[in-house]
Amino acid sequence: EQSRQIAQILSEFSLTTEQLLEVKQRMTIEIQNGLSKSTQDIATVKMLPTFVQSTPDGTEHGDFLALDLGGTNFRVLLVKIRSGKRRSVEMHNKIYAIPLEVMQGTGEELFDHIVHCISDFLDYMGMKNARLPLGFTFSFPCRQTSLDAGILVTWTKGFKATDCEGEDVVGLLRDAIKRREEFDLDVVAVVNDTVGTMMTCAYEEPTCEVGLIAGTGSNACYMEEMKNVEMIEGDEGQMCVNMEWGAFGDNGCLDDIRTEYDRSVDDFSLNPGKQRYEKMISGMYLGEIVRNILIDMTKKGFLFRGQISETLKTRSIFETKFLSQIESDRLALLQVRSILQHLGLDSTCDDSIIVKEVCGTVSRRAAQLCGAGMAAVVDKIRENRGLDHLDITVGVDGTLYKLHPHFSLIMHQTVKELAPNCNVKFLLSEDGSGKGAALITAVGCRLRQELN
Ligand code: BG6
Ligand code: GLC
Repeated sequence: EQSRQIAQILSEFSLTTEQLLEVKQRMTIEIQNGLSKSTQDIATVKMLPTFVQSTPDGTEHGDFLALDLGGTNFRVLLVKIRSGKRRSVEMHNKIYAIPLEVMQGTGEELFDHIVHCISDFLDYMGMKNARLPLGFTFSFPCRQTSLDAGILVTWTKGFKATDCEGEDVVGLLRDAIKRREEFDLDVVAVVNDTVGTMMTCAYEEPTCEVGLIAGTGSNACYMEEMKNVEMIEGDEGQMCVNMEWGAFGDNGCLDDIRTEYDRSVDDFSLNPGKQRYEKMISGMYLGEIVRNILIDMTKKGFLFRGQISETLKTRSIFETKFLSQIESDRLALLQVRSILQHLGLDSTCDDSIIVKEVCGTVSRRAAQLCGAGMAAVVDKIRENRGLDHLDITVGVDGTLYKLHPHFSLIMHQTVKELAPNCNVKFLLSEDGSGKGAALITAVGCRLRQELN
């Protein structure tokens, strides 16, 4: 009876192929709404133009600084790009911590901290006096009016600094550089991490025209036909669109598949009601879904002898790396127990079996939903080009994709099943978005010179 009830709870997370096709179909509709002038204002999937109009061609050249803000790590990088026969990219970088009180303090404090880190990096590299062009990977939704201007639409994930939403983040960065009165920088581009990832991968593989992040958050970008990007004048060529697909479902269109656990994770998040799809598929939230299920099962007496420990009440205990460890096939149950022990959860052997099952159920649904979204994207590209069959490469990054033992495989299989007319290759980004941001900056500098 107990195992029947456990199976009952977990069955809410299993999706049939028909349901997944339905999700794909709904994503297709939201993509269209985001692109069309008449529906843009109310669209949940915003389809933001990025002003990136081509992928790299190998002629990019120069030394650039890059910032990479919004994922697990905040980095400052120096990227040296050489073109020609011996084209190469050399990178130096340093990771800096962003304390929680800075992430959720004032905007001025956040940007002062960022500039403080740049200052430290320039000292470290011995480059205080070089006025380098900079590419700013800023992994949040920005409404861009040019390559070097982006108004923050809303914070997502763990950030909530005041006085930034509605502001141009390049302006905020330039102001903070001025306040410090120590060095000068030339901010050339603001870049979403999906776009940086696509460019990083496209430098090695020209068929890469899609970027995907399955990490702390989740999002995708791809090269869309200019004529379909109705927000921007001009019908020639293409432009990369930052989908901001994390907000898929914010109009209620996924409510039929959301569970009470999803709703509870959403209710207690920093941004209730927002990023509903992201909250079902990305690293920052999967552990929370798991924790909510475990609490419910414990209340019902199926787990931990019915005792809800302080640990289990603690938000964000199940980080992506723990979920990944728990689900690793090489791990004996005893090791699962020791991970739970380490988290402060006293488990029996039966408990650890159930916990592993819960983790597997939640991450499987995440991978399937992510695959359904990606299937919509590649089929859209295929239809744009009027092809029966499309070969395409997706550049991917993110801790969930990289660390989790099953996520990538299930996601790939789902795309294959839901978009049978596309042959999709997934290319793991080895160098992060900073490299892509530098490549975009290189092109930005060249275009600026051509204009002058
Ligand atoms: C990396 C980028 O490539 O992937 C980050 O450089 C990005 O900026 C990240 O946000 C996504 O992964 P995660 O798991 O760190 O959020
Ligand atoms: C969030 C952000 C988005 C970013 C994604 C992955 O969804 O809104 O801009 O690309 O996380 O980091």
